[in-house]
Amino acid sequence: MNLRVQQALNDQIEKEASSSHYYLAMASWAENNGLNGTAKFMYLHSDEERFHMLKLIKFINERGGEAIVPPVTKPPVQFDNLESVFTKLLEHEIRVTECINNLVNICLEEKDYSTHNFLQWYVSEQLEEEALARTILDKLKLISGDKAGIYLFDRDLDNSATPPKV
Ligand code: FEO
Repeated sequence: MNLRVQQALNDQIEKEASSSHYYLAMASWAENNGLNGTAKFMYLHSDEERFHMLKLIKFINERGGEAIVPPVTKPPVQFDNLESVFTKLLEHEIRVTECINNLVNICLEEKDYSTHNFLQWYVSEQLEEEALARTILDKLKLISGDKAGIYLFDRDLDNSATPPKV
């Protein structure tokens, strides 16, 4: 496969692995702070990012390239509060969207239309993930640190968290 595209896909594998780790750290923090609904949401989100990573690995290898399983950076252990967690999540997803867009652009420059087609799934996924993070943040802003509101918010997340799409 085109080596520039392969390198860019391998870079994206690292981004997805880091995302999975980052959300795992958020899940663990939430679990340790009595926010079991948020923890469930984040554990599932972490799984979803791992799936994004696996999909890239399989795509590269099936096309005759060589996927590289990357080291991942250590995520934070502590977070200030729920609003800070979801703000970081949204900021992170916005950065991932930029990476995906850059990757799509590389495919066009290299005239690799099949990888371009494969990446459209990630383009849609990013739209959904950013929209979800914004909706959740809007709710948290309405609650504005109110303890009863946080309790209900966490319970709602517990009820709405669903396993990743595969
Ligand atoms: Fe796979 Fe949320 O980026």
